[in-house]
Amino acid sequence: MTSILEQLDNKRAAARLGGGQKRIDAQHAKGKLTARERIELLLDEGTFEEWDMFVEHRCADFGMQEQKIPGDGVVTGYGMINGRLVFVFSQDFTVFGGALSEAHAEKICKVMDQAIKVGAPVIGLNDSGGARIQEGVASLGGYAEVFQRNVLASGVVPQISMIMGPCAGGAVYSPAMTDFIFMVKDSSYMFVTGPEVVKTVTHEEVTSEELGGALTHSTRSGVADLAFENDVEALLMLRRLYNYLPLNSREKPPVRPSRDPSERADLSLDTLVPANPNQPYDMKELILKTVDDGDFFELQPEYAKNIVIGFGRMDGQPVGIVANQPLVLAGCLDIKSSIKAARFVRFCDAFNIPILTFVDVPGFMPGTAQEYGGIIKHGAKLLFAYAECTVPKVTVITRKAYGGAYDVMSSKHLRGDVNLAWPNAEIAVMGAKGAVEIIFRQDKNDPEKLAAREAEYKTRFANPFVAGSRGFIDDVIQPHETRKRICRSLAMLQNKQLENPWRKHGNIPL
Ligand code: HXC
Repeated sequence: MTSILEQLDNKRAAARLGGGQKRIDAQHAKGKLTARERIELLLDEGTFEEWDMFVEHRCADFGMQEQKIPGDGVVTGYGMINGRLVFVFSQDFTVFGGALSEAHAEKICKVMDQAIKVGAPVIGLNDSGGARIQEGVASLGGYAEVFQRNVLASGVVPQISMIMGPCAGGAVYSPAMTDFIFMVKDSSYMFVTGPEVVKTVTHEEVTSEELGGALTHSTRSGVADLAFENDVEALLMLRRLYNYLPLNSREKPPVRPSRDPSERADLSLDTLVPANPNQPYDMKELILKTVDDGDFFELQPEYAKNIVIGFGRMDGQPVGIVANQPLVLAGCLDIKSSIKAARFVRFCDAFNIPILTFVDVPGFMPGTAQEYGGIIKHGAKLLFAYAECTVPKVTVITRKAYGGAYDVMSSKHLRGDVNLAWPNAEIAVMGAKGAVEIIFRQDKNDPEKLAAREAEYKTRFANPFVAGSRGFIDDVIQPHETRKRICRSLAMLQNKQLENPWRKHGNIPL
């Protein structure tokens, strides 16, 4: 018996060593942690239950039968993050470069299937040279099996991808279909075709980092939500993100009691918006002063900065925040910001997270670049997302809400539950200057008359009371009481019930 127990210990030790000490050292030398070290940091201490440690590949080509490493390049199982269940897979670059074999894919699929069954999120730590070249089409089949599960899990359990090494070719499409992508600077990259192919096809010279590094994807492409300095920071931040998410679409997100009084007034907000309507201010200041303890988990902070998205808590309850940012492009909605916010709104709706919207939007961005790029279709994504969603929606207009953008930004007409405005809000079809230039075109050569018309238009329309008189705004509030009014609204909305008509699925303008 002793020898059998010892054998088990030895087998486990061999599996834990992955591709061997030399390759582990090489991984460390690149500033990367190993697959197991990453899981240890991600999960609560001692909670990891590993599965399929003894799985081996079944490939007999190219001398592969001589090279079998237990676990086959991916560590899978489940554990806890702050006491809450999570399934995880972590690709082991020390074993065939983390390349995906049929057996490797089966291990990933097993945890995904189980996660869907029990209703718990899946976190994938990606560090892989892609398809296991020796296995050919069997590996491609394995990828597709993973893709299929990504799609079936979408909107059922949160899926989070962490890119911590190579992720290239079709392999990128599994993370791409998950809800959030984190990347590690300098050690990770994602691209559909690498620098060599790019050079051959388009004659562009570009490094892996430039083509698909963490900075590229968190600032230019918008593929990644956040970029981190190293593995440790990335994993710790992933634990923080996890605290805002429910385990599945049937649950509410976890409430964390807060000592921050829900009725806390902040007098500094009364002077946040400058007297001059063309002068910008930082919308993030409002967010930080409104949420519990000034704690805001921003996503995509360096991409499409004209809109701000992220998670915070109001009186302990997680909320998804969407806010126009007047500091960038005057807070205009353009293609990138519409897509960024639309996807976030849909995530929140899928996972029962109320949406808090701060509005200061002068309209959609004009220009040929936007029109040729399809702002009509992309702007419609945000409109569709807000109109479709059934979670509690609380909206605060801090200044401008003009034109179609007024409608889009969680307006009353799109089933906004509570729509509030600050006293200086301007809710109208367009700015006063543009408006009088159109309706009083006959006075265009009379600047004095035009100025008088403009002043008249401003007094008549550039305020929240016209919308208020129609019930489009539920109340005009003092800026300093914003937190209190939102907390009360969200408490009132706790048991909101709203369902869309039955359908197979809508057809969001993709
Ligand atoms: C099998 C692989 C492998 C792969 C790497 N290895 N990629 N084995 N299949 N795809 C092995 C190497 O042979 C090596 O083994 C070990 O992993 C580490 O690789 P190195 O090259 O030494 O590491 P590094 O210099 O860091 O380079 C990493 C790399 C490079 C950039 C990922 O290995 C690489 O270019 N690999 C090939 C990538 C690729 O073409 N993959 C297929 C793409 S097609 P030893 O024994 O020496 O340690 C694809 C399609 C997916 O993925 C489609 C989905 C639908």
